[in-house]
Amino acid sequence: MQEPNPLINLIVSRRSVSTLIEPGPSPDQLRSILLAASAVPDHGLLRPFRFVVAEGEGRAQFGDALARTAQERMPGLPPHKFDGIRQKAFRSPTLVALISSPKPGKIAVWEQSATAACAGYAIVLAAHALGVGAIWKSVPFTKGSALSEVLGLTEDEEMLGWIHLGQPGRDDEASPRVPLALDEVVTVLADNARRPYR
Ligand SMILES: Cc1cc2nc3c(=O)[nH]c(=O)nc-3n(C[C@H](O)[C@H](O)[C@H](O)COP(=O)(O)O)c2cc1C
Repeated sequence: MQEPNPLINLIVSRRSVSTLIEPGPSPDQLRSILLAASAVPDHGLLRPFRFVVAEGEGRAQFGDALARTAQERMPGLPPHKFDGIRQKAFRSPTLVALISSPKPGKIAVWEQSATAACAGYAIVLAAHALGVGAIWKSVPFTKGSALSEVLGLTEDEEMLGWIHLGQPGRDDEASPRVPLALDEVVTVLADNARRPYR
């Protein structure tokens, strides 16, 4: 359904793109994407996020860190799976690792993690606005010695996955979105009770 507002249409039309090919975003596009990611709601303006960009051969460092951290954190995994984890880094020309970087003080860590997660969303949304394909990916761990080394993670930081960026592959077709009726996720407080949204 078309919404009257073009920005709302843009938001609603965003879909993840799983086949991403060369070229990655241009330097100007990447800058715009990272600028959008840095403009998220942020209680206390603590900037509790960081981004690490990997493109070209830089992806090997990231893939290697993922595989070595998987060996540390998922020791039961069969050895051939580790190479699969390493290869995750090469699924797009460019990726942006998203780091939650909470700062000490009175703002709760969960609020700061929420801000960092908003930055991840802003990346996929800004990419969509620019015609760049994007998908947010993750592994079952957010920390580990190799990840710390390669991403420079401090004790308090963790990686909330990464966002692949590139050109949508010709054969990539997002599966149709299952229509969501708003009353499945929205209720309203009124007349001293909670009622379905209509
Ligand atoms: C924090 C986070 C981690 C994710 N990790 C993965 C992942 O590892 N693999 C995957 O296929 N999808 C992952 N997804 C989901 C996709 O990015 C995507 O949102 C989902 O497939 C729905 O598609 P859509 O964005 O077009 O609605 C993740 C999403 C989030 C927010």
